[in-house]
Amino acid sequence: MSSSIRAPKGVAEYVAPSAEVFLAVREALVAPARLAGYGYQELPIFEDTELFVRGVGESTDVVSKEMFTFTDRGGRSLTLRPEGTAGAIRAIIQHGLDRAGLPVKVWYAGPCFRAERPQQGRFRQFSQVGVEAVGSEDPALDAEVVALADAGFRGLGLRNQRLLLNSLGCRSCRPGYREVLTGFLATLELDPATAERARLNPLRVLDDKRPELQAALVAAPLPIDHLCQECRDHYDQVREDLRVLGVRWQEAPRLVRGLDYYTRTAFEFVHDDLGAQSGIGGGGRYDGLMADLGGADLSGIGFGLGIDRTMLALAAEGVSPVTRPRCDVFAIPLGPIAKTRLLAIVAQLRAGGAAADLAFDNRALRGAMKAADRSGARLALILGDTELAADALVVKDLVTGAQRTVPLDTAAATVLADLTGLASPTPGDRPATSQQEEQK
Ligand code: HAM
Repeated sequence: MSSSIRAPKGVAEYVAPSAEVFLAVREALVAPARLAGYGYQELPIFEDTELFVRGVGESTDVVSKEMFTFTDRGGRSLTLRPEGTAGAIRAIIQHGLDRAGLPVKVWYAGPCFRAERPQQGRFRQFSQVGVEAVGSEDPALDAEVVALADAGFRGLGLRNQRLLLNSLGCRSCRPGYREVLTGFLATLELDPATAERARLNPLRVLDDKRPELQAALVAAPLPIDHLCQECRDHYDQVREDLRVLGVRWQEAPRLVRGLDYYTRTAFEFVHDDLGAQSGIGGGGRYDGLMADLGGADLSGIGFGLGIDRTMLALAAEGVSPVTRPRCDVFAIPLGPIAKTRLLAIVAQLRAGGAAADLAFDNRALRGAMKAADRSGARLALILGDTELAADALVVKDLVTGAQRTVPLDTAAATVLADLTGLASPTPGDRPATSQQEEQK
């Protein structure tokens, strides 16, 4: 026998039932953005390497150490996307979306790839839900984007997350601050790697989590104290709007984020039950990105929320999102004629919006009943010779055990009506049926 092949190290992979949780989390994180006028973008998973070098920034860990880059047969350098923003902005430029009304508001979801050392909550393939809003500097838009992320997490029932907020300054005040910070860092004894980072992007040093460095940075100048008047006004208005929206945050004057494109508002949601990999989502404003990628000089703001870490956070809080049941009705034919009849009824049930399945392979009643239980179905349909002779079938409620006989020719309609009646669960009852889900 050949040896079995396992998934590559560090990829996030889900099978039932956690795959259903994955879908529910993705849906819930996206839902607020869809209600706020963000349109869907389906983006490529690999892009020209140059896009990330220019977009995310050469000095970032993501670009300098973590990209999965390969050469295609035509000799082009391509990279599996490490994040979604650069590709989303590229698509906006390529398709001229910014030539219609502004701001352009888009959302996307899908896998990202970073060659990080795998550990709990840190994957080499993970999934994000993201939004980008381009072409407006309005602080109300910053507040909207932050509030959408907040609503996504809350909608799932998550409670132990904290929103960290900072402002990083703009093209006019950042260079002055950078000089002051560089001057301060020059007074410290930094190891060679950190000194190099201080040379390439001194702001990133502020965010270093090592306690000895944090201690050395206690007196470091902070971006918030070097904002120009416009940035200060902008940040004040963002906070005012967040207050109005009822979003709570903590000031995080050392938050700079790991990607180079951020200006002004920067934010991160951290979850306190997750240990080292606590960032469940983050984002911010980016002034120069679109122009750097060859587009108009428009500012934008967005976020990326990590589906995998959100799932870990939900598990840590003991919250289970409502998932769509795999099966509402499980049909059990006893004999070939019964199978053909039930095959048709199952098709009618599916056409009517119910999740329905059938026992294949001529199972005996006992085994088929076990399969019905395993399927999670609320109702089982049983069709044997006795029922066939009476042109009827048995509908059994798998929760209460109650059963009744209904005419075959109207069975599908009857069962669909039964399911609608069962679709208002009492507290502690089984999760919602698929019809309920569809109405959401
Ligand atoms: P990011 O902070 O690099 O931002 O990633 C966003 C989220 O993706 C993180 O908060 C985390 O939940 C998840 N994530 C990142 N790396 C990993 C990993 N190795 N394993 C598991 N989850 C991970 C961005 O990607 C920006 N594009 C967000 C943005 C959009 N900024 C503006 N617009």
